[in-house]
Amino acid sequence: MKNVLLSLYSKFPHWYDSLYGQAVSTEVSPSLEFIQWFLTYKKIEINNPDHLILDMGAGTGRVLIPLTQKGYVIEGMEPFEGMMEIASKKADKENTKISLSKGSYQTLMANEKYKLIFGLNGTMAYLTSSEEFIQSLKNIYRALKPRGIFLVDLMNFYAIIKKYKHPEPKEIDLEGKQGLLVVSYGPDPTRDIWIHHARIFLKADKTPKTDPFLLYEDIHELIMINIRELKYYAKLAGLEFVENFLSYEDRPDERKKGSRIIAIFQKPHK
Ligand SMILES: C[S@@+](CC[C@H](N)C(=O)[O-])C[C@H]1O[C@@H](n2cnc3c(N)ncnc32)[C@H](O)[C@@H]1O
Repeated sequence: MKNVLLSLYSKFPHWYDSLYGQAVSTEVSPSLEFIQWFLTYKKIEINNPDHLILDMGAGTGRVLIPLTQKGYVIEGMEPFEGMMEIASKKADKENTKISLSKGSYQTLMANEKYKLIFGLNGTMAYLTSSEEFIQSLKNIYRALKPRGIFLVDLMNFYAIIKKYKHPEPKEIDLEGKQGLLVVSYGPDPTRDIWIHHARIFLKADKTPKTDPFLLYEDIHELIMINIRELKYYAKLAGLEFVENFLSYEDRPDERKKGSRIIAIFQKPHK
């Protein structure tokens, strides 16, 4: 991968769920709740191999595992082996057989295979250039069956800037050790990049009076794409724009604004 700063995904994948996951593993995250509603909304059927789904950038299987358990015919794809290992271990623990392979938007080679491809929680923000977006969307187009759907879920950085609030430090539990996750973020307008800078401090063992020490630092650079650009790249790849949801709670009959871009595209019928 070009972006060498993603040390969380490559070096510390076992921390991902503690840092950004749910408090308990059985808790349903807003993104999981949204995708479950979306599958019903789009009449994607369980146990139907013609309704094959791809979870692109499946990470630690936070969505892949529960959807497999519900009976959806679903595959996951993930570029980082460490993240894949965590997903497989979690699935084994729950006696669930997941289908997960190594790959990315850039390497997706399937042909008319999927009824639905989704990328939840900012997977596409790791693409670094217009060329990568267009190539990736062409790969998505090829991989979808005719009338197949692509759902891309990204942060809407412009909405976040509008109500900017410095994130509060968060108490975390890392393999039984108490720590503090301190995140700062903001735009680098010269590069249209959003910098997400996370630091973890751990309390020193056995000596409670010692100052916490910096254990780890992780910088993610995310592309600040907006819906207009995304629609344009998708159109170049042959995909038709269908609709956009502004939050995980947004529904066609009950609009709820938020700071996400959850854009839906469709491959036209031949
Ligand atoms: C914030 S995590 C979200 C993981 C998962 N989708 C979820 O909702 O829990 C972003 C994921 O995108 C993956 N990713 C990064 N670059 C990618 C690319 N070029 N293609 C596909 N996935 C990518 C990362 O490895 C990571 O698993």
